[in-house]
Amino acid sequence: MDNLDQLVIDARAAFAEASAAAALEQAKARFFGKNGLITEQLKALGGLPPERKRERGAEVNRAKAAIEAALAERREALREAELSAQLQAESLDVTLPGRGSAPGGLHPVSRSLERIERLFQSIGFVAVDGPEIETDWHNFTALNIPADHPARSMHDTFFLEGREDVLLRTHTSPVQIRAMLAHVEQTRDCDPMPDLRVIMPGRVYRVDSDATHSPMFHQAEGLWVGERVSFADLKGVVADFLCKFFETDDLQVRFRPSFFPFTEPSAEVDVAFKGGALDGRWLEVAGCGMVHPNVLRFGGIDPERYTGFAFGFGPDRLTMLRYGVSDLRLFFEGDLRFLSQFR
Ligand code: DAH
Repeated sequence: MDNLDQLVIDARAAFAEASAAAALEQAKARFFGKNGLITEQLKALGGLPPERKRERGAEVNRAKAAIEAALAERREALREAELSAQLQAESLDVTLPGRGSAPGGLHPVSRSLERIERLFQSIGFVAVDGPEIETDWHNFTALNIPADHPARSMHDTFFLEGREDVLLRTHTSPVQIRAMLAHVEQTRDCDPMPDLRVIMPGRVYRVDSDATHSPMFHQAEGLWVGERVSFADLKGVVADFLCKFFETDDLQVRFRPSFFPFTEPSAEVDVAFKGGALDGRWLEVAGCGMVHPNVLRFGGIDPERYTGFAFGFGPDRLTMLRYGVSDLRLFFEGDLRFLSQFR
């Protein structure tokens, strides 16, 4: 057998052996590279006498064409194999049930906030917002908590770097001041000033974290200011709200004397359920009281003429009680297995 025929046979074998594109290109170089076997043959033609050159040249070209054809064929085969492997790997089962978009739902705490807003709106309260980055003045000073007041140490505050006058609000009470100032401005021409009734839900922040405390949590502040607003009104509004919120008339509500700088007198509100896991246990749900004269004054309102009550609920706590959740952190971990139960 002529050495050219052998070359073609060797080339076919080498190409067949190459199982991937890169290996095939290497095998190709063995024949067509700078010192490749076919290249050598072509170079060798130069040293032949003209007669022999033409004849040998045609033979070499035939062998070269045969090897090129084998190479193209192998290339195509490898490409097809690669494609079908890819198709296999990426196969799509159109009969599988779709992932779709599952129906979403409101976060349980958001549900409570909306519920609180709706219940208070039904008795004439207006829902208002305040900033979460609050001034020291609104958060403390105007609420009768001067700079050196020990009550400030009850609030483990997040301050903003490089700014001493602003902080992440530690409660929603500063919105009371904003609401009073805005109301006074809006009703400047009225005498007497119409009643101010606002509900102020929102996020608040404190340096605190365990099973019952989160550095971010929620409060819902309420405020009613008018000419003859009394502690009796406060008790009625708060007790009525709680029965509606928990959808029961079988709820015991008690007002326990307490202290807040911005109210005088002040109380904490406890509830006790009849029946269930919490049967008869007193649980604190809010702080409240009659708005301190200094606070009314900071809000631009004459404390000799008007009185008011304020309260601050913990919507996270209310939500835990309503749904029987025992760990506050569950609300903020974003675990869908937990959250989807409230859809
Ligand atoms: N701001 C209080 C706190 O964060 C809660 C509170 C107590 C709000 C009494 C009130 C109130 O409006 O009257 O602990």
